[in-house]
Amino acid sequence: MCGIVGYIGDKPAKDILLAGLKRLEYRGYDSSGMAVLSAKQTLNIKKAPGKISALEHIIKANPLSGCLGIAHTRWATHGAPTQNNAHPHADCKNNIVVVHNGIIENFESLRSRLIKEKHFFRSQTDTEVIVHLIEKFHKNFPLTEAVRKTLKLLKGSFAIGVIARDNPDMLIGARSGSPLIVGLGEGENFLASDAPAILEYTKEILFLEEKEIVILKKDSYQLQNLDGRPVKRRPVHIGWDIAQAQKQGYKHFMLKEINEQPAIIENLLNFRISKNKEIIFQEQKIPLRKLKEFRNIFIVACGTAYHAGLVGKYILESTCCLPTHIDVSSEFRYRDLLIDKHTLVLTISQSGETADTLAGLREAKARGASVLAICNVLGSTMTREADGVIYTHAGPEIGVASTKAYTAQLAALYLFAFYLAGVRKVMPPAQIRKFLGELKKIPAKQKEILKHQERIAKTARRHSHFGSFLYLGRNVNFPSALEGALKLKEISYIPAEGYAAGEMKHGPIALIDEYRGVVCISPRSKVYEKMISNIQEIHSRHGKIIAIATAGDVMIKELTREVIYLPVCSELLSPLLVVLPLQLLAYHIAVKRGCDVDQPRNLAKSVTVE
Ligand code: AGP
Repeated sequence: MCGIVGYIGDKPAKDILLAGLKRLEYRGYDSSGMAVLSAKQTLNIKKAPGKISALEHIIKANPLSGCLGIAHTRWATHGAPTQNNAHPHADCKNNIVVVHNGIIENFESLRSRLIKEKHFFRSQTDTEVIVHLIEKFHKNFPLTEAVRKTLKLLKGSFAIGVIARDNPDMLIGARSGSPLIVGLGEGENFLASDAPAILEYTKEILFLEEKEIVILKKDSYQLQNLDGRPVKRRPVHIGWDIAQAQKQGYKHFMLKEINEQPAIIENLLNFRISKNKEIIFQEQKIPLRKLKEFRNIFIVACGTAYHAGLVGKYILESTCCLPTHIDVSSEFRYRDLLIDKHTLVLTISQSGETADTLAGLREAKARGASVLAICNVLGSTMTREADGVIYTHAGPEIGVASTKAYTAQLAALYLFAFYLAGVRKVMPPAQIRKFLGELKKIPAKQKEILKHQERIAKTARRHSHFGSFLYLGRNVNFPSALEGALKLKEISYIPAEGYAAGEMKHGPIALIDEYRGVVCISPRSKVYEKMISNIQEIHSRHGKIIAIATAGDVMIKELTREVIYLPVCSELLSPLLVVLPLQLLAYHIAVKRGCDVDQPRNLAKSVTVE
């Protein structure tokens, strides 16, 4: 997954493009580049492998003048992250340049055909076929038509930006499968993969739909489908300000986003629960009649979203008495699924662009199921293709390790479960109101935990030298154990496994010794005693235990000195509290080890390739 930015106006394009790229760096950061058309109509291209700071260095030494340009930050899929493979890619005569996010699956056949037609390729990328195809068609057709003809030949996913020397007043964008937005300004217009790149300049955003093309001039824009027919759409005003996308004084976006959670959950609950304790889902379009008729639920998601879904399974089964199944999207999409029109499929995704989950959504719809997307990114592909949407309103999540989006997904799942229990009349309204009352107390309890985050940081630093960790939990906190382990793995690179504590005796207990860190999630619950006996088994084998327990639990102190206390909370809602110390443990261990917490190696914020 890559980041695209484009600008047409009267300001120097290079500064706007560079700033935009930096705000998209979380989308991919193995190489970058930009092309700017000068007033004398020369196309100047600068590219650099590595972080955007490398490109910034080159541009400082060789400034690019001009008010029309496109730029790109890359997450390599085809062709190693080298100078040559960095975008933009130019045609044979450096007349046309293209930046691209996505994968062209049929690029090899297109490439060999173009080589036969004497086109000269400079890179190993799939992207380069696009610019040579445009070059080929532009010989006989105007630029926009050449772009449309090209796009019709492409298989796979793409969002592109195109400029050409012979069209100095035009910036073209198009998408199919990968996200692309337009920013509308005064006497200037922008193209971007994501809002943070351009929010500093405009909050009027136009979302491109599937198979659409936009022709931008500095004071106008035209939206068309791939047949050239005009498309009418109103821009959306984005309430986020650029500051939200910046660190607000925290050392890392991840720490900022961990500390944003109480406010995010509070806003979400205020937004979703009316004065008279009604649960409101404005954008949820699946008819009530259907919600009453579903015979089972299937949850589909990846990574952290999958862990939120697993908590959702426990909640939905215990509140709605509906059989609820869950699968990771990459397995769901290839299974012989037993779902049909009586199935409600929940797809959960922060980005709304995760390829496996999108494929799962399309599989489910193909089998007649209704799909409700729980998603954080306004206008993302998943929200456009689902039958209903519940936005998690966590704001832009920049840290690759998902934190606030996870708790917002949990809150959305609790609300949806109580809502569905009410719609299906399987839980008395008074009990639902009681739960909503408890849910409304969660943000204050999260604030309480964050007040003591320095103590959790000390515990983390005392354990940062351990070579591997086990995370144990039971019942609704088994998914919390999985999430705690994932957080540690993805930002500190320490091997860690989350386990249902009851499984310990069936194998993992063999791992326990004084060199193993073991995080035991044991708040007051109906399985508390079972957790205590697990902790005793680990204690007797010298495992180094960090326990997460409920305030006032003195007994657990006899088994370990390392106890992180949580405010009192019902077991059902406890995953919303338990995850904060798990996120902070992983964060401070990774920082202690000098890891790049916001951009961990080998990871991207959203995985738009299979
Ligand atoms: C979580 O910290 C990771 N970034 C990753 O596991 C992520 O949750 C997964 O890729 C799903 O992304 P999505 O929510 O955008 O679909």
